[in-house]
Amino acid sequence: MSDTPTTPVSTFLLDGRPIPFLPGQTIMQAAQDAGVYIPHLCHHHDFAPIGSCKVCSVRVNGRMIASCTMPASAGLVVESEAADINHDRQRLTQMLFVEGNHHCPFCEKSANCHLQAVAYHLEMQDTHYVHAYPHHEVDASHPDVMLDRSRCILCELCVRASREVDGKDVFTIGGRGPHTTLMVNSASGQLKDSDVAVTDRAVHICPVGA
Ligand code: FES
Repeated sequence: MSDTPTTPVSTFLLDGRPIPFLPGQTIMQAAQDAGVYIPHLCHHHDFAPIGSCKVCSVRVNGRMIASCTMPASAGLVVESEAADINHDRQRLTQMLFVEGNHHCPFCEKSANCHLQAVAYHLEMQDTHYVHAYPHHEVDASHPDVMLDRSRCILCELCVRASREVDGKDVFTIGGRGPHTTLMVNSASGQLKDSDVAVTDRAVHICPVGA
């Protein structure tokens, strides 16, 4: 029998509201269990956090930190919906929009896209930055699965799902800086030579339209 408590042990304050948490939970997990939305992109409740997008950053006792990696503890004072925090989140989101092909009206993931949802939550009206129009390879080599890297936000959810759920390790992140990209682990680097299947969790977990 597990000794892990299943009822919340204590609370922290999130935007003035007491949030109960279980031992081992992060601020993000406790907030989600309490029905409070903290904008996020690389977090998924089925996977260990990697803290890469920083959209979920909150102010904890005066310091900024990713809420998906920060353990909850009793008495923390957490701010999430502050104007300056949402301003920074909006700038991060706008950078993602100009670095890729995120033209929502033409995307089949529209209305079911985390990037779009975050933009709506932040009341993003424009992209602020000049569009970068970088070149991203599209992989249409596979009969059932297509990869459009121009929509990839490098959240690594497909990387984690392929490795941890599908047991295949189809995807990885390669390159540096602005050349960082999602790569396919196959001899040719193409999906057709990988063992990806349309039923894989990695194919369905993408939070955007990649
Ligand atoms: Fe926390 Fe991406 S959701 S860093």
